Amino acid sequence: MELFDFIKSSPNAYFAVDTMAKELKTAGFTRLDEKDSWKIKPGKYFVTRDDSSLIAFVIPKKDFKGFHIVASHSDSPSFKIKPDPEMKAGDAYIKLNVEKYGGMIISTWFDRPLSVAGRVVVDAKDGVQTKLVNIDRDLFIIPSLAIHMDRTANEGHKYEVQKELLPLFAGGEKKDAKLISLICKECGIKEKDVLDADLFLYNRMAPVSFGMNNEFIASPRLDDLQCVYGSLEGILAAKPSDYVAVHAVFNNEEVGSETKQGAASSFLTDVIARICEKLSVSVEDRARKMADSFMISADNAHALHPNYSEKTDPTNKPVLNGGIVIKYNANQKYTTDAVSSAFLRKICKKTGAKVQEYVNPSDIPGGSTLGSIATARVSMNTVDIGLPQLAMHSSYETAGREDTEDLIKVSKEFFSK
Ligand code: CO
Repeated sequence: MELFDFIKSSPNAYFAVDTMAKELKTAGFTRLDEKDSWKIKPGKYFVTRDDSSLIAFVIPKKDFKGFHIVASHSDSPSFKIKPDPEMKAGDAYIKLNVEKYGGMIISTWFDRPLSVAGRVVVDAKDGVQTKLVNIDRDLFIIPSLAIHMDRTANEGHKYEVQKELLPLFAGGEKKDAKLISLICKECGIKEKDVLDADLFLYNRMAPVSFGMNNEFIASPRLDDLQCVYGSLEGILAAKPSDYVAVHAVFNNEEVGSETKQGAASSFLTDVIARICEKLSVSVEDRARKMADSFMISADNAHALHPNYSEKTDPTNKPVLNGGIVIKYNANQKYTTDAVSSAFLRKICKKTGAKVQEYVNPSDIPGGSTLGSIATARVSMNTVDIGLPQLAMHSSYETAGREDTEDLIKVSKEFFSK
């Protein structure tokens, strides 16, 4: 599967997990359920939590030395549709009530085709059942206000989400326009069975290559689906190893990871504990294996911006198509240290992947990522990396065309080591 197809089939975390599950199944991975008793022997497996986080792992034939984990995140900033969302606007239109999910560049959601995807939970004989839904057509627009009605529009604007970011959904009367009815009709669900839904807007713009030599790409959700894809392709191509290869993708990085399926949850710890238990690993042997384990936390990085070079550190200037970015932070918002980066650099050297460095300029506080959160739960040597990109958290982000390949090479080698 190509990167663009992966992103197009993954309008949000639920679909990213679904897309991965299909790819993994095709490649011979066995799906496990957290509720079942696991039968694990050497082989390939995956398990999901909340339909929105996924851990795939490969158990080697002989006794394994530890875990080789690549962690990334399935979610991107978006707008979540509130319950009972339809609102009348001037007796002529129906718009939808939404709230922010994560910290996006709000202006990038105006004036472009949007649609809705997520999951609908329906009544079933023994409990409830989840159905993924995606209205695969242009369905909404959030229209800007004309410049004539706001002459200061280009002089900095503070957005009122509750007023300005409500997507236009339909013309006419409210009684005729119900989003859930449309979703049920188009997705073959009986509306009377619907109990609730988690629905998010997504940008319909297709990914493109651009630039004089098509050296750049632009797409929704590059943060972090570009890394998710690189890690997935790596584990799919990996050769047998002395370590358990683990492709871990967590939801909710954009809202702090503190959910039952986020990087701060027990998901990864539980999976590691169950693998050790099923393979009769003693407490001491488990500690030995953890000490010999390694994690690559892969979340996209800020590249040097052509119009804002002053926002980049004076000596560490990662660029698009410059390869894998190692992220450093003295206060350990990024987990990288000299030992973990040295390990990664050796893999990059061996595979021919390019490598560059990112550090925040000292007076600009940076973001953090899932590496430090996950490694506080599952402690092991970890390096924070990403692929270089621009316009992070825009609804349409820019990156280099060549960099994805470097991450695939590195994760394949890491999983095969
Ligand atoms: Co990210």
